[in-house]
Amino acid sequence: MASRYIGAIDQGTTSTRFIIFDETGAIVALERREHAQIYPKPGWVEHDAAEIWRNALDCVAGSLEKSGLRPGDLAAVGIANQRETCLIWDKASGLPLHNALVWMDTRTEQAVAALARERGADCLRAKTGLPLATYFSALKLAWLLEQTPGARERAQDGEVLFGTIDSWLIWNLTGGAKSGLHVTDATNASRTQMMNLATLQWDEEILDLFGIPRACLPEIRSSSEVYGHCAAHSASILAGVPIAGALGDQHGALLGQARLRPGDAKNTYGTGCFMLMNTGTEPRVSSNGLITTLGYKLGGAAPVYALEGSVAIAGALVQWLRDNLGLIRESHEIEALARSVEDNGDVYFVPAFSGLYAPRWRGDARGIVAGLTRHSNKGHIARAALEATAYQTREVLAAMEGDAGVAVAELRVDGGMTDNELLMQFQADILERPVTRPAMIETTALGAAVAAGLAVGFWRSLEDIALHGGAERRWTPQMARAESARLIASWEKAVQRSLGWRD
Ligand code: G3P
Repeated sequence: MASRYIGAIDQGTTSTRFIIFDETGAIVALERREHAQIYPKPGWVEHDAAEIWRNALDCVAGSLEKSGLRPGDLAAVGIANQRETCLIWDKASGLPLHNALVWMDTRTEQAVAALARERGADCLRAKTGLPLATYFSALKLAWLLEQTPGARERAQDGEVLFGTIDSWLIWNLTGGAKSGLHVTDATNASRTQMMNLATLQWDEEILDLFGIPRACLPEIRSSSEVYGHCAAHSASILAGVPIAGALGDQHGALLGQARLRPGDAKNTYGTGCFMLMNTGTEPRVSSNGLITTLGYKLGGAAPVYALEGSVAIAGALVQWLRDNLGLIRESHEIEALARSVEDNGDVYFVPAFSGLYAPRWRGDARGIVAGLTRHSNKGHIARAALEATAYQTREVLAAMEGDAGVAVAELRVDGGMTDNELLMQFQADILERPVTRPAMIETTALGAAVAAGLAVGFWRSLEDIALHGGAERRWTPQMARAESARLIASWEKAVQRSLGWRD
């Protein structure tokens, strides 16, 4: 009997999930594991890639058990992953040579500043769509090659391999040191700042600039094709199942939300907050501080590009209030705490923990809380933390509309934070337009499932899947315009104070 399900690994910044979908795109089973966040120094953020690999396998096992399905019931597996986070590993032993450097890590700040002084912050924009920033992988890889004894020479000889998390998982799933495939998809490659957006290949000039040996890089493939099959000795739980899709998680959400036409946009509220707008088959250069990225590349079809507004800290700020300040015990408690006060009490929280990304790209900014008085309490801090995400989304949306030359009448959202009614209502208020969330919010994983499902003929066309995008919840603006204008003006003042902190 034909396999009737598709599995998707959603490997995010804070957790890993494995979700099994049926033909209608409905969830059959889901298993999730958190992994450790490692902060060795201020601004440094690392993950243990071996833990992530173990968690992925545990999630697969848990999900199959919950559903009562066997590996043979899965027509294929797709992967969506946190982007830019990268590692190097030993090809012979399969062991990472260092913890993975996470996308929000700022250890390359000085290298970024030096290169920006020498060549200009936009020197790679034409080729890669990206400004120089600590966010992207190339300088992280340069750091890893520099700091790990012997790594550069061994990378030149092809004995040390580089990968974003999709590469790491595919290599392990297909047999690791014995028979692992060293590939990545073009959306993930587009986040390394080493891929040329026009050719979808590594750019030799850029590799020279960063001092990256070509031999350690994976082969760039499309987001939807059979890369290989899971190997019995390394991923016995999935032995024989084709791995047929891979995308950066935000690109997965773009597909999962069926944002398939130019002008279609979505905003995902996760660890960070990422708005992507489909711009069709031509890359569009931003003049408003957004980045140009690959939307998706499905098999042999023409690549689809996107404009992106990346906000580094969204849900991560709620976690920070939980883990670093102990203000709440569980993340969801943030809403009740924020509702314990009537308004923000004139408190503003600029969470520039990794500098500010789009649309400002200010690596010199650091987090501040502004407007405190004796009246301020933890409720105001909680409220200010939630509001920060909404203000930043507003800035990104304005930039996007400026670049695209079209108004986004209604913002489509997804991601964990969209459960927060207070935030979503405030978002609609501050955007002065409706916000809608689809019925199925695991859109990132669905996008990976879609990519894999299309590659093996489980689904025939994107339109099949577009049918499942019905809106479940809609928030409409309630706030008086004068009030939102007052709040935005105060937020802007707070942002100005966060800039230049590191100068
Ligand atoms: O670029 C970073 C992004 O891919 C992280 O996504 O879902 O972990 O916030 P998320």
